[in-house]
Amino acid sequence: MPAKDLDQIVNLCKRRGFVFPSAEIYGGFRSSYDYGPLGSLMLRNVKEAWVRTMVQQRDDTVLIDAAILGPPQIFEASGHLENFSDPLVDCTVCKRRFREDHIETRDCPQGMKGCAFTESRAFNLMFKTTAGPVEGSGADVYLRPETAQGMFLNFSNVLQTSRKRPPFGIAQVGKSFRNEITPGNFIFRTREFEQMEMEFFVPPADGPKWYEYWCKARLEWYIELGIPAEMLRIRAHDADELSHYSAGTSDVEFLFPWGWGELEGIAQRTDFDLTQHSNASGQKLDFFDQATNERYIPYVVEPAAGANRTMAAFLLAAYDEDIVNDEPRTVLRLHPRLAPYKVAVLPLSKKDTLTPLAREIYGTLAQRYMCDYDETQAIGRRYRRQDEIGTPLCVTVDFDSLEDNAVTIRHRDSTEQVRVPISSLLSEVTSILGF
Ligand code: GAP
Repeated sequence: MPAKDLDQIVNLCKRRGFVFPSAEIYGGFRSSYDYGPLGSLMLRNVKEAWVRTMVQQRDDTVLIDAAILGPPQIFEASGHLENFSDPLVDCTVCKRRFREDHIETRDCPQGMKGCAFTESRAFNLMFKTTAGPVEGSGADVYLRPETAQGMFLNFSNVLQTSRKRPPFGIAQVGKSFRNEITPGNFIFRTREFEQMEMEFFVPPADGPKWYEYWCKARLEWYIELGIPAEMLRIRAHDADELSHYSAGTSDVEFLFPWGWGELEGIAQRTDFDLTQHSNASGQKLDFFDQATNERYIPYVVEPAAGANRTMAAFLLAAYDEDIVNDEPRTVLRLHPRLAPYKVAVLPLSKKDTLTPLAREIYGTLAQRYMCDYDETQAIGRRYRRQDEIGTPLCVTVDFDSLEDNAVTIRHRDSTEQVRVPISSLLSEVTSILGF
């Protein structure tokens, strides 16, 4: 059964080294989080799973890695300097600031009596800084609020160098920054986060068809990676929710402990961005179709996901508690592709006699998979630890292994144990994991 409350995951993440509050020794910095030894592996796995599906397994997409800092011209043209804002209200009682659209009633969210909110005003979410060595005289630059602009700016570069033609996509995974009014719900809303975005350029008439296609494909991605279908839904935006660049957006939403929340938006950006950048830069950002002798500015369908939010959803959905050998256990039933470690090698005893063989097995498996090696506690406790961090398989090396050249594979989900010859261990593990 998935986690019922966020604290179960927050505590597990802290206790086992997935996610730590950033700058914790200075009292924490609510804006962002640090990813520890396990969390950094899992976050990387989420991003790799996305790249695998969106780039590796398609011949109509390419990957780029664009700059995070950009001059104001980009964000003037994209409309972010003018439009990328949230409605902000001040509470005159508790003196805190809130997003007006996140307040359920006109009562103070801090529970203070006699509160009164100011009129709402637009608060721009862009982070500004200064580039250049001389204090006070540098040029204003902005941290990107979405990775998307890098794809629009490089549209012609990619077109010329990759020989792609519409329909084709430019994908990117990387950090984005937003000065959120109310960061919160753990890694759900932070001021620094990672996005996994694709700008898919299509002939204008094909926009609706590709929008349908991406809504369906993106929902399936989460299901294939283990989120139960009933914890996911697609929700179309009302007209007043649409971003300034969108002619229609649907969100993939996940049932978080506090209710439905967005994991990803699929937007019809039309030719808005290419037209804006073309007008502002004076550069042609269009495509000449030799088959039809037509020149046109492609329309864009954009599936835009958040890596951190998605990781939180995978953790919440995978969390389970059950009873094994009359004892309660916590287990993360993560898809093997997402699990930080795929295999843990556990010598039954710390005695030197088992160490060389266990180390050799670890060395072989680690050539292929991210593996853990643990010889610290009683074997039962080590199994529990691996269950709690989602490791799909444990390989136990015992004293019989020295005689029969075999080891035991223990399955996380069923706790079933099977004996396999060391000579076929790698192929056995590969066939169980499926990759
Ligand atoms: N390029 C389109 C775009 O940026 P968005 O819906 O604003 O669209 C896409 O962001 C995804 O990025 C969201 O669905 C969410 O997963 C993630 N995201 C946005 N703001 C975030 C924040 N403050 N903290 C964590 N993730 C965020």
